[in-house]
Amino acid sequence: MAPRTRIARVGVVWLAAFATLSYASASTPVTDIEDVDFGPSEAAARHNAFEICNAIHSAMRQWGLSLNHNGMSLFLATIPAGVTLHHGTHSPTPPPGPEWLALEIEHAEQFAHPRWRRGDRPGPPGPPPPDSEPPPPPSPVAQDQQPLHFPPQPHQPPPRSPNNNNDNNTNPDSDPHGHGYLHTYLTTTPLHLLYLDGTSAGNTDMGTLDTQDLLLRLNRSASLWDERGRAQALCDTVSSWGGGLHGVLRMEAGFEVIQCDFSRGLELVAASRRPEESDCLAAGEVRMFEYIKAVARRYHDIGGGRVVVDWGSMVSAFFYEVDLGNPNGTVGMPRLVGVSDGELRAIRQRVEDVVKGRRGEGRRAVNWQGLVDMVVARYADRLRYMAGVDSVEVMQAEVNGLLNTHIDSAVDDQGYKAALKRCSGFYTLGVTPQTQEDSLVMAAVETVTHSICSTLFEVRKVVWENPDANGGSLELAKRELRDLMDKLRWTRWKECAGCGFDEVCFIPVWPYGDKAAHEQPSCRNTTSLTKGWRDSRYWQSGPGMGPK
Ligand SMILES: *[C@@H]1O[C@H](CO)[C@@H](O)[C@H](O)[C@H]1NC(C)=O
Ligand SMILES: *[C@@H]1O[C@H](CO)[C@@H](O)[C@H](O)[C@H]1NC(C)=O
Ligand SMILES: *[C@@H]1O[C@H](CO)[C@@H](O)[C@H](O)[C@H]1NC(C)=O
Ligand SMILES: *[C@@H]1O[C@H](CO)[C@@H](O)[C@H](O)[C@H]1NC(C)=O
Repeated sequence: MAPRTRIARVGVVWLAAFATLSYASASTPVTDIEDVDFGPSEAAARHNAFEICNAIHSAMRQWGLSLNHNGMSLFLATIPAGVTLHHGTHSPTPPPGPEWLALEIEHAEQFAHPRWRRGDRPGPPGPPPPDSEPPPPPSPVAQDQQPLHFPPQPHQPPPRSPNNNNDNNTNPDSDPHGHGYLHTYLTTTPLHLLYLDGTSAGNTDMGTLDTQDLLLRLNRSASLWDERGRAQALCDTVSSWGGGLHGVLRMEAGFEVIQCDFSRGLELVAASRRPEESDCLAAGEVRMFEYIKAVARRYHDIGGGRVVVDWGSMVSAFFYEVDLGNPNGTVGMPRLVGVSDGELRAIRQRVEDVVKGRRGEGRRAVNWQGLVDMVVARYADRLRYMAGVDSVEVMQAEVNGLLNTHIDSAVDDQGYKAALKRCSGFYTLGVTPQTQEDSLVMAAVETVTHSICSTLFEVRKVVWENPDANGGSLELAKRELRDLMDKLRWTRWKECAGCGFDEVCFIPVWPYGDKAAHEQPSCRNTTSLTKGWRDSRYWQSGPGMGPK
């Protein structure tokens, strides 16, 4: 079977008609034809090996998930007992749920203010209004929703609790001078969550919502802005599976939980009223800057062991022979829009089976992220260095340094076949796959390591085995290395060289307007961040504002 999996890599094709077509198809009844032969395949895992390894490397890391914002993978994840989570709102009372909980205090604080009314905007320099208004809200419920959706303002004021009768601000609709509240909760039991990778909490039409709206909800006409409907639908779905899940874990500018039921596994430890909002511009700028700094602290680790991912539970569209093409041709940004309903149902079924089969602590899981990190750590800086060296001798020393480990000079290894095999299998030597998904990930990892090792053996051949190696050989070797780097697309190569303590390596979480800044993030101070933010509508979500 010819692989149908394709990730558009070249060209920018604007198919304005496409959206119309895909939305039109939503009103046609969903076909129930199940493809009995359809399932995950090792061939697909090999074909998408680079994307799979990068997804594993980036999971639960703000950095890579912001760069590659269209997540195609789902994992089981757990927040252990004793972790604090935060909820910003306009009420001192815990909501029933579904509602949003932030992992970072600064994230929740963005929402700890009086209820926004239509026409209000969060104080400067909050997200500037989009040039064009969001599409007409589908229902009056969404009237007061803001582009920065976390959390969308509850359309029902939370029930008044018996102990806050002296507070007349619980219905901010009737009180224009309401207050904001920051709730802090402690997890009392481990929270079991379905984790959706990518910038999955980003309200964009660029594909950030594909695993939610298309895969889990099977809804091709879901409104971008219907966050509450989305949360409810996701909670209904994960609850119906009966795997004991508490909710869904996603990421925007910060990681957040959609907690389905606030009475399960949470203890309210504080609900503090916020001070009056200052209308001082500088205060707002500093606040936003510190918010982004807080988010940036999670670029490479959520910190404190607050989330544990079960790597063997990874279900990914990359494991299937499906059309992951992006109709807008955006490089490296896969979509699920080309995947048929039957295929989506089958992948979703696998997610359900994995959730149902959720195992306890007993399984000795393979730490795939740790393993992929080792590969990246060994090769990332070296490859980048080698791709730029201007001395044959240095290239020889580097490539021999990497490969001699795997070469046994005592044996006659024709064409270094055995050495290549040892090099490719080096990091997976001790791995025993425990799940079907482990086997698929293993196929992907070994495809990537084989690609690295075979390129290095090519380089060695050109600059070391060749007695006449010269400048031309060096150029050839460097070209091989650059081709390899183009395939690997490691996000580590986009990190800032080092920012001052008063700066942040800023990556526009959604690359609206300024594609270059998304491609090559740079250090920003408060002033340049605020300026870039305004100019480029960073973090501003909205339809039809994808990267050009
Ligand atoms: C109730 O609201 C009024 C007017 O907004 C305000 O003056 C008063 O202080 C509030 N009372 C309490 C207990 O918050
Ligand atoms: C899809 O979601 C929208 C709301 O965003 C809702 O109105 C519609 O009924 C949903 N369609 C299906 C088939 O569930
Ligand atoms: C902030 O950065 C901009 C541009 O990088 C620079 O011109 C400006 O002097 C910096 N401001 C401060 C306060 O460091
Ligand atoms: C492609 O981009 C256009 C313009 O930004 C947008 O309207 C459309 O929804 C996009 N299509 C898809 C499938 O993302």
